[in-house]
Amino acid sequence: MNATGGTPHGPGDDTPDRAQAVTGASGVSAEPVATGAASADGERDDPLTRPVHPPKKPSVVLGVGGGIAAYKVCDLLRRLTESGHQVRVVPTAAALEFVGAATWAALSGQPVTADPFGYVHEVPHVRIGKGADLVVVAPATANLIAKAAHGLADDLLTNTLLTARCPILFAAAMHTEMWEHPATQANVAILRSRGITVLDPAVGRLTGADTGRGRLPEPAEIFAISQLMLADSTARAAGESVADLTGKHVLVSAGGTREHLDPVRYLGNSSSGKQGYALARIAAARGAKVTLVAANSELPDPAGVQVVPVTSTRDLYDEITGRAADADAIVMAAAPADFRPADVAEHKIKKTEDGAVPAVQLVQNPDILATVAHDRQRAGQVIVGFAAETGDASHSVLDLGRAKLARKGCDLLVVNDVSGGKVFGSDLNEAVVLDRDGNALPVPSGSKDALAGVIWNLVASRWH
Ligand SMILES: Cc1cc2nc3c(=O)[nH]c(=O)nc-3n(C[C@H](O)[C@H](O)[C@H](O)COP(=O)(O)O)c2cc1C
Repeated sequence: MNATGGTPHGPGDDTPDRAQAVTGASGVSAEPVATGAASADGERDDPLTRPVHPPKKPSVVLGVGGGIAAYKVCDLLRRLTESGHQVRVVPTAAALEFVGAATWAALSGQPVTADPFGYVHEVPHVRIGKGADLVVVAPATANLIAKAAHGLADDLLTNTLLTARCPILFAAAMHTEMWEHPATQANVAILRSRGITVLDPAVGRLTGADTGRGRLPEPAEIFAISQLMLADSTARAAGESVADLTGKHVLVSAGGTREHLDPVRYLGNSSSGKQGYALARIAAARGAKVTLVAANSELPDPAGVQVVPVTSTRDLYDEITGRAADADAIVMAAAPADFRPADVAEHKIKKTEDGAVPAVQLVQNPDILATVAHDRQRAGQVIVGFAAETGDASHSVLDLGRAKLARKGCDLLVVNDVSGGKVFGSDLNEAVVLDRDGNALPVPSGSKDALAGVIWNLVASRWH
C-alpha cells in the first residue's frame, strides 16, 4: 500500500514539485514584476531570458566515445538538432562498434567519419574544431579523457579537441573502478584546470549487474548544460557572464516526502522532483554552490551538486533548518506531507480475520517554509516557496497564493494552478511568481529548466 493520505499541496505544505498552469480562468490578472517586464509580443527583456537562450544556429561538435552509453547520445543528438543546432558527429573507432556511422549521419544530416584521412580535401582534422561553437564529448571514456589530458591526436576526435577554441563539455561514463582510478582522476583534474567542463558520471545501474558511479548523465541534463555553456560564451563575447550566482550558496529541496505507517507502507505523494532538480542544475551551471535536499526522487544527481537524500518531512525539516544559516537562498520545491501517522508500527500491519481496519491517527508535520522564513539567520537571504492551488468559489488561485505568501513570510512564491483536472507529471511548467510587494510575474509554458532560470533571475536581482 502506498496510501496518498498526506495532503502535499495543502495549507501546511511548502510546495508541489510538479507545477501546473495558472490560467485566465482562475481570475488571474497578473502585472509584471519590475525585474523583467513581458512586452506586447510576448518576448521578455533581460535578465529574465538571457541565461536560457543559446545563440542562433550554433555549430556543435558531438564527439562520441566507445562506451555502452553511446546509444543514449542519439537522444542528445536529436535534442540538439531539433533545437536548431548544426551538429557534426565525430565518433571514435570504438564508438562505431556500438552505434554505426549510418545512424549518426542520418540523425545529423552531416558526413561522419572517425578517421582524419577521410574527406582530406576539407582538412577535417583542423576545420571541424576551429569552426565549432561548442564541443560535447559523450560518453567521455577513460581513454578519451586520458588522451585529451595529454594532448594525443591519433583520430579525428582527438585532433578536433586540440584545434577547438570554444567551450568543451565532457560527459564521463565508465565503470566505477575506471572512474575512481587515480590516473583517471588526475586526467580529469588536468582537463578541469584548463577550463574544460567535465560532468561526473551519475550513480545507478552499470553495464553488468552492478551499480555505482559510472552512468552517463541523462541526455536532458547534458543538453541543458550545453545550452548554458553556449549562452555563457555568447554572453562573454558581449562582455557579460551567466555565472552570476558565483560565490552564493543555495539550498534547494525537491521530491515528495514519505510518512511511514509500518516498515513497508507509507503516506506519500507523486512528486517527481523534476522542478527542484532543474533548479539545482541551473544554479550550479550559473556558478552557485548548491545543496539539494532530495526526498525520494529517482532522478540522477545533477553534476556538481551536493545531494542529501531524505525520506520524511521531519528529515527534510532537519536538513533544511540545519543548513539554512549557511544559505544565501532557500528554494523549497519539494512537496512535504502535512501530516504523518502518530505511531509507526514496528512490524508490518497484518490483516485480521474479522475484517477490522486499523485506525490511523495523523498528526501535523512541522511547516518548513514558514520556519525558515520566520527564523531568518542570514542577512540578504532570499526564500522562495511553491504553491499548487485550485482556487474555490470565492478565491482565485492568485488570491490563495497571495494569502500563502503573507502567511509563510517568504520573499517569492511560485504559484501553479492545478484546477480543472490538470495533472502532474509534465516536463513543462507554467506559473505566476508573486513577490511581497504585490507584483506578479506570469511565466508562460516552457521547460522546468526555463522556469528555474526565471526564478534564479528573480533571486539574483535581489542580491545585485
Ligand atoms: C561492452 C563495452 C563497454 C564499454 N564501456 C565503456 C565505458 O562506458 N566507458 C569507458 O571508458 N570505456 C568503455 N569500454 C572500453 C572502451 O571501449 C575502450 O577503452 C576503448 O579503447 C575506448 O576508445 P575511445 O576512447 O577511443 O572511444 C567499453 C568496452 C566494451 C567492450
